[in-house]
Amino acid sequence: MPLTNQRKPSSKPRARKAQRDITYRFAARDEKDEVRELLSECGLPTRYVHRHLKSFLVAKAGEKTVGVIGVELYGRVGLLRSLCVDPDFRDRGIALALNEKMLDDARAQKIDRLYLFTLRAEKFAAKLGFRKLEKSRIPRSIRATWQYRSFRPYPVVCMVKEISR
Ligand SMILES: CC(C)(COP(=O)(O)OP(=O)(O)OC[C@H]1O[C@@H](n2cnc3c(N)ncnc32)[C@H](O)[C@@H]1OP(=O)(O)O)[C@@H](O)C(=O)NCCC(=O)NCCS
Repeated sequence: MPLTNQRKPSSKPRARKAQRDITYRFAARDEKDEVRELLSECGLPTRYVHRHLKSFLVAKAGEKTVGVIGVELYGRVGLLRSLCVDPDFRDRGIALALNEKMLDDARAQKIDRLYLFTLRAEKFAAKLGFRKLEKSRIPRSIRATWQYRSFRPYPVVCMVKEISR
């Protein structure tokens, strides 16, 4: 069920770009390579995309995949990953729309909390309602993920968001 990305029209050039139709839906199996390419282009890890693709959402401009968000589900908690937008399509609300759509799905799936790890996007994640979490408070299910293990040597921040219903 495609959902059109709507932002208020404005006279600024940036807003004119935003009026182009963007639709959102779950990723199809044959979009795995496109999703991986966009993640690579945006400097995000592509590991295990194939395992979790069914809980990935894509933003499409026509046939082109211009945005991605993914969640890895671990019981009642989820690990948000792979939120990125094609550089040519940034600044028009696509990441916010992907996040909202993903939250609707998380609510429907009775997810209690979402976690994420980030190196450089702490401010952006705070905008999405995530707050920083001390390492000692990261639950075991999230510690067991590949992201936690592979990010551990780096100054990565863990953040959490409660899912309100
Ligand atoms: C971060 C990213 C996903 C934003 O995508 P986008 O579609 O341009 O974001 P939006 O247009 O939906 O912007 C939403 C808001 O976040 C702000 N924002 C965007 N990037 C930001 C950043 N890096 N830091 C802080 N705020 C940011 C925007 O200014 C906008 O604020 P506003 O609503 O007050 O105007 C995109 O820049 C990207 O793909 N970056 C590389 C990958 C990455 O860092 N992912 C984040 C993982 S948590």
